[in-house]
Amino acid sequence: MQSSALLESIPTPCYVLERDKLKSNLEILSQVQEQSGAKILLALKGYAFWRCFDEVRQSLSGSAASGLYEARLGFEEIGGASTIQDCLDSKNLIRKEVCVFSPAYKEVDSLLPYATHIIFNSFSQLARFSSRIKEHNKQAKHPISIGLRVNPLYSEVQTDIYNPCAAYSRLGITPSAFERALETYGDGILRDVQGLHFHTHCEQDSYALKRTLPHVEKYFGAYFGGLKWCNFGGGHHITRADYNKALLVKLIKDFRQKYQLEVFLEPGEAVGWQAGFLIGSVIDIVENGKQIAILDVSASAHMPDCLEMPYRPNIYKISDGVRESDKGENHGSYKYRLGGPTCLAGDIIGDFSFDSELKIGDKVVFEDMLHYTIVKNTTFNGVALPSLAVIENGNLRILKSFDYFDYKERN
Ligand SMILES: Cc1ncc(COP(=O)(O)O)c(C=O)c1O
Repeated sequence: MQSSALLESIPTPCYVLERDKLKSNLEILSQVQEQSGAKILLALKGYAFWRCFDEVRQSLSGSAASGLYEARLGFEEIGGASTIQDCLDSKNLIRKEVCVFSPAYKEVDSLLPYATHIIFNSFSQLARFSSRIKEHNKQAKHPISIGLRVNPLYSEVQTDIYNPCAAYSRLGITPSAFERALETYGDGILRDVQGLHFHTHCEQDSYALKRTLPHVEKYFGAYFGGLKWCNFGGGHHITRADYNKALLVKLIKDFRQKYQLEVFLEPGEAVGWQAGFLIGSVIDIVENGKQIAILDVSASAHMPDCLEMPYRPNIYKISDGVRESDKGENHGSYKYRLGGPTCLAGDIIGDFSFDSELKIGDKVVFEDMLHYTIVKNTTFNGVALPSLAVIENGNLRILKSFDYFDYKERN
């Protein structure tokens, strides 16, 4: 646990990576890789804190990207080279995977220098771009492997916004669309395809994967014979304390043995899970039926999942060096609604309570705020982007601060 003095010294708002915690997550993921034989990629959409990627680079097999910018970041910061030329020049460089999936590509040329895998979301995109990739592969040192994303019509995700198998989902080819496409294009189109990808999980245990795999096999198992790999997507909550890692390892080993396919996992959240926090300060306290504290951090701009999911973050406050955890909405004697500094009426972080008073100037720490926050934050209302910092060996280092020009340049 970080000392109150250290926390109080942090200029707010600020996202703070606790490097030891990131290292522990990566050790777990590394063990799963070793034991299962799967390749684990960091999904940059969830966690892209590249300023501290040393351990990510050492532990994981590469990155999963959603398009050009993430592919380039993965290539530069996890692929082990800072420029394309560095990478191409270096004979000893171990090229890591950069596995790209996008719901639709406008073009693929810009991806060719970075990607190791390009996954299409439809046969029409495959038909449009596969010859370009094959052309590139003829002279490429690292040929790009082509894949298709499928929808096995089974997901246990309860929140529709995060459920890729919800009705009318645009993500992944359904079994019937797959069959229709083979009639349209002919079976020969699969000659270019080396892998299938499914992503149907969100914060799930391996029991969900166990129940999902039979659906993938039922609908798409007939095509496995011509493939080299299968990507099980993200949403595997592997680093959560109660996650059943032994079951995951067994499922992967059995699958690899049965089908002789290379397996990829691409978690984002599990890498940054509980690896850091967002710290803010109380700017004012107003009253309207409740005590409402206005902070310099915003749910809308800095922690959007609090509104989208929605969920109530774990928090504690620090007043005059004394730390106190939230007692729940109503259990503490002093109850507060916490809100952000934007003009959005719904910029509400939640209702919390403490046994001691919350005062202007107090710090509030929002735990587990590194994944799906920094990658999604905005300068809505012109609010400042939180700085980025790291705590390692008990010392705080501010890595990046943002200013007016970061706001101006986006508008
Ligand atoms: C295709 C794909 N892969 C990987 C991920 C990462 O998921 P998570 O961060 O939940 O592990 C996502 C998240 O939406 C995704 O859409």
